[in-house]
Amino acid sequence: MANTDNIRISVIQPEYRQRVLDFLRTHYFREEPLTIGREPRHQEPDEEEFILSIINHGTCLMAIHTETESIVGVASSCPKGPDEAENLFEEVATEGPTKYGIILKLLAEVERDANVFHRYDVQKALHVHVLGVDAKMRGKNIGGRLMFELTVLGKQLGYEVITADCTSYYSARLCERLGWECINTVYYADYVDDDNKKPYFVPEPPHNCCRTFAKRL
Ligand code: ACO
Repeated sequence: MANTDNIRISVIQPEYRQRVLDFLRTHYFREEPLTIGREPRHQEPDEEEFILSIINHGTCLMAIHTETESIVGVASSCPKGPDEAENLFEEVATEGPTKYGIILKLLAEVERDANVFHRYDVQKALHVHVLGVDAKMRGKNIGGRLMFELTVLGKQLGYEVITADCTSYYSARLCERLGWECINTVYYADYVDDDNKKPYFVPEPPHNCCRTFAKRL
């Protein structure tokens, strides 16, 4: 895979689990808008476990700095099928009203409303769950390169569409730059708890919405 500018992009192998987790704890969760947009402002163990579990699909990529051999970016994806929204709503019911349950509820609703399988008339899609770049390495298009390489890998593996729920202003801008299509938007200010009418998530500006992007492969 791509090896330019001292950055090597490769598929994450299971033996990298701990290093990936350490990277995500430092460079992803501390800024990801849903994680920090609601109390408690940190990730739940279930979220970490899920993200590590999808490494086994062979569809998660990391960017490695070739001089230091350190991880400087991660883009993790896994397959989904037409029953994805239904599966997520079942998980929401099992999880209950925990913070992770509320995150899953948003993701289930955007999955249902983006309606990818019907919209593109496909059966097999890859969904990006995580995109994180080392805070010191931002603005070098490492995120863009990881997402581009995911599209190449997805196509090689026979996926028909790739999608991502961009909870961050920066990841949404990046997908737009790559020419992905925005197929759904939920503004955090409008996504309110039915009981108290308060927004479920209040991330810092400029993160004001979760935008779902898709690209046909
Ligand atoms: N805070 C401030 N500025 C930022 C950030 C940020 N989080 N991210 C990017 N920028 C700036 C860059 O410095 C750059 O500025 P410049 O044009 O003045 O040089 C500009 O925005 C463009 O940067 P990109 O190259 O497009 O973004 P990059 O690949 O460096 O990082 C990413 C994007 C991965 C989203 C990064 O912001 C990040 O790791 N955020 C924390 C975790 C997160 O929220 N991930 C996305 C969640 S959605 C999902 O996972 C599918």
